[in-house]
Amino acid sequence: MRIDIITALPELMASPLSHSIVGRARSAGIIDVHVHDLRAFGLGRYRQIDDEPYGGGAGMVLMAEPLFDCLESVMADDSDLQVDEIIYLTPDAPVLTQASANALTLRSRLVLVAGHYKGIDQRFRDAVVTMEVSIGDYVLSGGELPACVLVDALARLLPGAISDAESALTDSFQDGLLDAPLYTRPASFRGMEVPDVLRSGNHESIRAWRERMREERTRRIRPDLLED
Ligand code: ADE
Repeated sequence: MRIDIITALPELMASPLSHSIVGRARSAGIIDVHVHDLRAFGLGRYRQIDDEPYGGGAGMVLMAEPLFDCLESVMADDSDLQVDEIIYLTPDAPVLTQASANALTLRSRLVLVAGHYKGIDQRFRDAVVTMEVSIGDYVLSGGELPACVLVDALARLLPGAISDAESALTDSFQDGLLDAPLYTRPASFRGMEVPDVLRSGNHESIRAWRERMREERTRRIRPDLLED
């Protein structure tokens, strides 16, 4: 999978995109991520990329022209992969779920657009954006961290990204339930014990216990997941 990211703050994304599972998946050639600096397409001597909103109001708006120019330069590269979706990260969009992340892994190439300041010119959204994604019902300072979140959610699902193939499939949410509690050594720590069943060696009891925990935790912490 190839992902191109358009951003006014490439430095903000460098670390999340170069460590852990995403970093390893990039080194292994499982995911090919390219970050494009919107500022390079800014207008005039000062490489302007934002301006005041028409009609007034607080905050600056990313201008259409640098966004179009940057996107056109991304699309004009020599990759033989066709762009499947142009995704704008914004809080006023459907919220990312495990199911929508799973569906996106079937795509070969995505362009992510990370807005900053108040937002981006609506004409760019209307003309070229094919999908909009929020990472939750709260407002962040820009789309850079949400773009990193989306890349991480996708990278871990790609074949070969996680050594234990089962691990991504057994993540919380993968079948609509939260995960069971996890423990590691020592068995007793400051008077707190690991549940006996996990040390019993009885795989069937362990499986049943985990299943019960997953249902109980989901009902208590995220009952909305059971309604869906
Ligand atoms: N940009 C700012 N807040 C965001 C959010 N919650 N999701 C996606 N993009 C955003």
